[in-house]
This record gives sequence, C-alpha cells and structure tokens, in this order.
Amino acid sequence: MSSRIDPVGHRQATSHASGPLVNALSRTLARREAKSARRRLTVLPKETIDFSSNDFLSLGTSSAFKDRYLAHLNNAPESFPFASGGSRLLDGNSHYAEELEQFVADFHQAPTALLFNSGFDANVGVLSSIPQPGDLILYDELIHASAHEGMRLSRAGKRIMFPHSSAAGMRDVLKAQIYDDSGVRDGTKNVFVVLESIYSMDGDVAPIKEFIDVVDELLPRQNGYFVVDEAHSTGVFGPRGAGVVQELGLQDRMFIRVHTFGKALASHGAMVLCGPETKDYLINYARSLIYTTALGFPFLASIRTAYELLSTGETEHLQTKLQHLIRHLHTRLHHLRASQSVLFEVDHFPTSPIFSLRTSKPRQLASACQQDGYIVRAIMPPTIPEGKERVRVCLHSGNTEEEIDGLVQTIQSWLDQCEVRSANL
Ligand SMILES: Cc1ncc(COP(=O)(O)O)c(C=O)c1O
Repeated sequence: MSSRIDPVGHRQATSHASGPLVNALSRTLARREAKSARRRLTVLPKETIDFSSNDFLSLGTSSAFKDRYLAHLNNAPESFPFASGGSRLLDGNSHYAEELEQFVADFHQAPTALLFNSGFDANVGVLSSIPQPGDLILYDELIHASAHEGMRLSRAGKRIMFPHSSAAGMRDVLKAQIYDDSGVRDGTKNVFVVLESIYSMDGDVAPIKEFIDVVDELLPRQNGYFVVDEAHSTGVFGPRGAGVVQELGLQDRMFIRVHTFGKALASHGAMVLCGPETKDYLINYARSLIYTTALGFPFLASIRTAYELLSTGETEHLQTKLQHLIRHLHTRLHHLRASQSVLFEVDHFPTSPIFSLRTSKPRQLASACQQDGYIVRAIMPPTIPEGKERVRVCLHSGNTEEEIDGLVQTIQSWLDQCEVRSANL
C-alpha cells in the first residue's frame, strides 16, 4: 500500500490494484494465456474419481491411517506444544522429531536422516549447499524444478545436463569433463550425479545401476556422488515401500537420498538420508532448513503414522493391489483403437502408477475425462518440454477395476469422436 495526494491536498492510500507493474504482470499472463499455458487454481467437484493425485496408496482416505494418526494426537502429553515454535536450530526441535528421524533412517537402512519442511526445501537445501566451489554437477534433463532451484543457488563450477535416463549419454558428458578438467580427473573436484528414481511426469524408473557402473569406471578416485530423489517411489516401490534404491540393494552407494512425504505417505515434509557429517553440514549450511519454522507436532505425527504403517507391513497389500491395477490399466490402454488420423500413444513403464497418454490435444482429452467424472490432468509446457504434451493418469490402491474400465471407455469414445471429426473435414 502506498499513498497519493487527492485534489484537496489529503494523502490517500492507493492499493496498487492497477498501475504499471500490475499492467506488466497482466500482459505477461495474457501472453501465457495466448500459448494456452496459463496456470489456474482449481477445486475438484465432489463425487469425482481420482486418477490424478499422488496419493498412490490412498492413505489420504484410509481409516487405518486416520485412526493411528488420531491416536498419536490424543496420546500426546498435555504439555506437548502443537506448533514447533521456530526454526529447528532455535526452538523448533524436539525429542519427537529426533526419534522420528532415527526411525525413518533405520527403515531406509541409512546412517542418519534430516527432516525438511518439504521435498522442495530438501532438494534446494542439499544442492545449494553441498557441492563445493568448482565442483561438477551432472543432472538428468527431466529432474524436478526443486533440484534446478538448488543447483541455481549452488557454488558448483559447472552444471551439465545429460539425456534423460541415458547412462551412455551421461558417460559422454562425464568423459568430456574428465578430458577437459584435471580436477575432475585427479579427484580434487567432486562430481554429483543428480537423478530421480521415478520421474514424476513419465513415471519411468531410472537405470541407477547403469549410472553407478559409469561412475565406477570413469571416476576410480571415488569422487562421484549420487543424489537420488525418491519422491515418487516412497511407499510404492521396494521392500515395504522403502523405494527403488533399496529394492536394488544400492543404499550404500548413494551419497544422499531424498524421500518426500506429500505423495504416497499422505503427509508433508521430506527427509534427506545421508551420513552424520553430511547431516551436520546441512544443519549448518542448508538455508531452507535453517531459516524456516520447523514442522509442528501434527505433521511429525502424520509422518510417524505413515512410517509405522510401512514398517509393520500394513501397506504391503496396498502396494500389491496397486500393482494389480497398474497391470489392468496397462492392458486396457493397449487395447484402445485409435485411427491413423489421431495422434495417440501410451507411454508407460511396466510397474509404475503413472501413465502418459500422448496426444496433440491433451486439454480436450482431459476435459472429456473430467466431464465423465474422471480427474486426469493435461500436462503442458513449461511443466514439460514443448512437444511432450500429454494427459497424466495416476493410479491409486483405492481405485477399482470398474473405475479404470470407465476411464478407458471414455478415452475410447473421445478417440472415436476425433476420428469422426477428422473424417468430416
Ligand atoms: C521429484 C520430486 N521431487 C521433489 C518434489 C517436491 O516435494 P514436495 O511436494 O514435498 O515439496 C516433487 C513434488 O512435486 C517431486 O515430484
């Protein structure tokens, strides 16, 4: 709020509701609108079927989760503060938070774990602070925006992208750097390889073992460090939902793993799994941890609830059910009939709950599904690269075969209508 002088000389507050800045913002939004790329907040109507959220195990609506969570809240001592009251480094720490970190670290067979308020904060904290001046970061071209944000703030000397999930592509990039840079070659510079175990948009699983082989071959001085984001695999993949890295038995080869709790775990926040020195360093230098109010007890209790369910095996049947539904949708989608005149392709990694329906008209397909009550999302640039538009479909343990059949029927009807329209042109 600023002020202006009215005609009779009184100072009056102006709200800046219009003016040069607001006009410039509006023009930028209009340009986005013209490219059909403007983002909007939406509230889902009731009685819709969820094929969109990241609540892969349907824990968000599970009574087992809710009962256990409420018991944690009810059993908390009277004196227990609900809000954390400050940064983890000041008044926001608690025995409860520290025990939770150890519980999660043990579950993931990691030496230690450090809580962050979100996966975004965790990636920003790790990548902005850990690479040292002059170090090299190699990152997959499809890594999440939060990793980009962290790298942008980091002191690394170079940040180089390699083609998506291509160990051969990463090998070429690394070889060129080894040739060019004696520090990378002689091990005085660190090389960070930044991956996701499952990519959020395509749902494909990274060939982590192949990346390790490249690093072992080209960096014999052991200056290669893996940073793997397990946001989408947490709860869904691996033993009792421990993630892809543990499924492959590669936990000891990872420098850092990031597990987030806002997706399959129906909670908030994230933990960075790492060694004790790295944890200590992050506590000292990760600004997204230091300069923010720590998660309060209700959020910690929710994470605790989720991990108790995982560690006692109570979510295993949900993992199994999800895999059954994934196979069902995979088969049904491959029986769809699309004529040559309609661009339509299904991209799917066999065990992943995320499916990509590639079409040149993602908004129209998403809207046809939504009209029939099936919530799916059109994913457009800038969230994904130009030309990779798609409809993203996410499965959950709580979906049913009937719901899946209904969704596929709607997609088939839409494809049939597209065919009729193009025949009439
Ligand atoms: C791969 C990946 N990493 C990190 C995040 C951020 O996690 P959070 O939602 O907890 O901030 C997301 C969420 O969209 C993600 O998909």
